[in-house]
Amino acid sequence: MFCGILAVLSIFMLLAPLVCALPFLGGGDEVLDIFSRSGGGARNLKKFGENLPSLSSSTQTQRRASASNCTLLTEHEAKKLPGWQKIIEHADKLWGTGKRSIKTNDEHEPDYPAKICIADKIQISYQGAPSCMTENVTTDGLLSGTNGTASVSVTQGFSASSSFSLSESATIGVSQSYMTMLNFPEVASTMQDFATSVSITNYVSEYFTSSYDEMETVTLLVAVSDGHHCSVIESVTTCTIEGTGELQFIASGYIWFEYVDPVAGHYKYPVMLEDVLPDPASRSSYARFRGNTTAISRSSYQATCKEVS
Ligand SMILES: *[C@@H]1O[C@H](CO)[C@@H](O)[C@H](O)[C@H]1NC(C)=O
Ligand SMILES: *[C@@H]1O[C@H](CO)[C@@H](O)[C@H](O)[C@H]1NC(C)=O
Ligand SMILES: *[C@@H]1O[C@H](CO)[C@@H](O)[C@H](O)[C@H]1NC(C)=O
Ligand SMILES: *[C@@H]1O[C@H](CO)[C@@H](O)[C@H](O)[C@H]1NC(C)=O
Repeated sequence: MFCGILAVLSIFMLLAPLVCALPFLGGGDEVLDIFSRSGGGARNLKKFGENLPSLSSSTQTQRRASASNCTLLTEHEAKKLPGWQKIIEHADKLWGTGKRSIKTNDEHEPDYPAKICIADKIQISYQGAPSCMTENVTTDGLLSGTNGTASVSVTQGFSASSSFSLSESATIGVSQSYMTMLNFPEVASTMQDFATSVSITNYVSEYFTSSYDEMETVTLLVAVSDGHHCSVIESVTTCTIEGTGELQFIASGYIWFEYVDPVAGHYKYPVMLEDVLPDPASRSSYARFRGNTTAISRSSYQATCKEVS
């Protein structure tokens, strides 16, 4: 029996550091240690995920491009900003307290927009440690063909799904939907880091979900004598962890003060929010969310071939 795994991986050489060890068991059984030198286990699961391509990244990019993390700021919302009083004082000082109206996104002034934006990356903070379960799953392969190979198709990699709900909504951008990315940090030896794109509606108890999928089906070709049946044992780890996140809704752009009687020859003047309120916190409101994430890591570490009599 020669030592050969043809390891024709459908995409590329995921299992590059193949260890070819064929300790013969009794009765014509053979055990191939497919996985890396350090053997199976959580560290390998993590490495595995890191090396895999992100299948979802191209679709995420497309969705990001067509969606926005900003909406238009209304007059009503501007008045709710923590620093609003400073905006009023600023206008009073420059143009007086004469009869006036306040406007945002004036259709006659398209170059002076006012927006509410959320950050394009939100960090998830985990609460406590993940609760994990590992089990061995056996995938049966095909009988070896006439030319001395057997193939086994296994699913490997990492996937995760989350369900969150808003425990607190922001006072601006209410009921509006925003696109952003959620960044999930790594949990040492248990879960890899990953990012998903989500659409979040700013409304208390509103649910949103996200999912991430790096699972790949790879076909292993194992060189064996004719009449052998091969199977692969995979380690499948499922972890659940609770996480929270905070969304900062930041207002920026222009507020128009439109006077009934002209001031210094003009009826209206713009105030730029960022000029008068340079600290983003003074023109922000926050939403908070909480929920659970379940992550699944699959890695194969052993192929066993048995002679079929
Ligand atoms: C999202 O908002 C941030 C400001 O909070 C801005 O810098 C970024 O360009 C926005 N991204 C998109 C896609 O609108
Ligand atoms: C999975 O199989 C490996 C190798 O046979 C063994 O060492 C390990 O204890 C098994 N794990 C579980 C959870 O059954
Ligand atoms: C024969 O072996 C080659 C690899 O050398 C493989 O691609 C092919 O599928 C095998 N054919 C059969 C019938 O098993
Ligand atoms: C997360 O799951 C745990 C266990 O099922 C549950 O007790 C907890 O309430 C969940 N957290 C949220 C925010 O749904």
